[in-house]
Amino acid sequence: MKESVFLALLFTCLNLTVLLAAQTQLIGSHQPIVALVGDDVVLPCHLESAISVTYETVVWTKAGLELKYIYYHQDGRLLFEKQDPSYSLRTRLFMDELPRGNISMKIFKVKLSDAGTYKCSLPTIKKEAEVKLIVGQSDVIGSDQPVKVLVSDDIILPCHLEPPLDVTTLSVEWRRGPVLVHVYRNRGDDPVSQDQNFKGRTSLFPDEMTRGNISLKLTNVTEQDAGNYTCSVPKLQRSSVTLVVEPPPALGFHSTFIIIIAVIVLVAAVIGAFLKNRKIK
Ligand SMILES: *[C@@H]1O[C@H](CO)[C@@H](O)[C@H](O)[C@H]1NC(C)=O
Ligand SMILES: *[C@@H]1O[C@H](CO)[C@@H](O)[C@H](O)[C@H]1NC(C)=O
Ligand SMILES: *[C@@H]1O[C@H](CO)[C@@H](O)[C@H](O)[C@H]1NC(C)=O
Ligand SMILES: *[C@@H]1O[C@H](CO)[C@@H](O)[C@H](O)[C@H]1NC(C)=O
Repeated sequence: MKESVFLALLFTCLNLTVLLAAQTQLIGSHQPIVALVGDDVVLPCHLESAISVTYETVVWTKAGLELKYIYYHQDGRLLFEKQDPSYSLRTRLFMDELPRGNISMKIFKVKLSDAGTYKCSLPTIKKEAEVKLIVGQSDVIGSDQPVKVLVSDDIILPCHLEPPLDVTTLSVEWRRGPVLVHVYRNRGDDPVSQDQNFKGRTSLFPDEMTRGNISLKLTNVTEQDAGNYTCSVPKLQRSSVTLVVEPPPALGFHSTFIIIIAVIVLVAAVIGAFLKNRKIK
């Protein structure tokens, strides 16, 4: 008797969860999630209201892989037999997050073939949401041609990613030899590790970085700045740019010529005056 009451209560509770959950929405991500080959990545997906889904069926699928599931969570565990083999042992849900309605999925060691549109869903309450995963594999391209600049001028050292990849969430490094010229990480410049000589003289272009442009602006160039620079997104690769610093403009050919004429005229005038003086005597 007691048992049946307990079961009835439990049943009501579970049903209540389903009812409550039916009122809420699943939220994926409007922004695509960007990962690089080899990264671990979390595809976010959660119920708007924090309702437990620990005992619900949680399903992750991917466009183009309709026959198999990426993750099929039922009765509190992953059903291996329903999982696409290419995701075998590479995915997990966060069991401690399920009571809060968070069904985000982690993928370990992302592959190029993992890119695509994923769908998280709670079939019992007919809710689903999408998350797009972009897997980056771009080349970092500096410049074959040396970049020339005059002392005390400003210069942009070109470097970009091809195909373009938003690098604002990644790290970017500029070095001259081993010297750190500019470091960007955790969504901001990191002047602490920067070489003293470059302090206050370097900047990236934040707007351009979303398009994979990691060109560096160097102001008030000195002769010591000349050399080979490397731009790198450590997670991807590096490339180089050679900076040639030219001395400030010396007197040009014309001014040299004018000065020589002036000197000759002056010497002639002095000699003339001297001779004239002697004649008078
Ligand atoms: C869901 O869990 C993941 C993994 O712990 C976490 O990164 C994410 O922030 C959580 N989402 C919400 C909405 O709490
Ligand atoms: C990168 O940004 C700089 C500064 O705005 C610009 O001069 C350069 O042309 C851009 N490079 C590319 C490849 O878009
Ligand atoms: C440029 O550098 C020189 C010497 O390093 C310094 O004297 C000068 O003030 C700097 N100019 C600017 C505009 O920062
Ligand atoms: C810079 O790089 C170029 C080409 O990669 C090389 O020929 C040159 O010797 C290098 N210069 C220095 C100062 O390392």
